[in-house]
Amino acid sequence: MANVTFSSPRLKKDVTVYAVAGDTKTLLAVAKQHDIPLNFECENGECGSCQVQVTVLSGKAPYGVALTEKEKTVLRFAGKITAEQIAAAETGDVPPPWRLACQFVVRHEDILVQF
Ligand code: FES
Repeated sequence: MANVTFSSPRLKKDVTVYAVAGDTKTLLAVAKQHDIPLNFECENGECGSCQVQVTVLSGKAPYGVALTEKEKTVLRFAGKITAEQIAAAETGDVPPPWRLACQFVVRHEDILVQF
């Protein structure tokens, strides 16, 4: 079970929802399920419209940071993450600050999502 808190000027107040562990839904799917107005277009990691800032809030050790190739390409191109941050994510499980909501799979960590 993970708490996912969405924060945005587009929301009247922060919204926290529960994501069931093992569901392996994308962050975008969780947002849509709870009527959170995240931007999206392609839903396939190509357009970059679903970029969000993600902060891990829980003190649990990360399962491992899995960035898809599309996510790495789009976020690098947009200037949201560096090659060093990608390397740190892949070798040290250090979460990068920006993710694509349509590619990020919600796991057991409590996270803050800003958009
Ligand atoms: S909706 Fe296009 S990259 Fe996520």
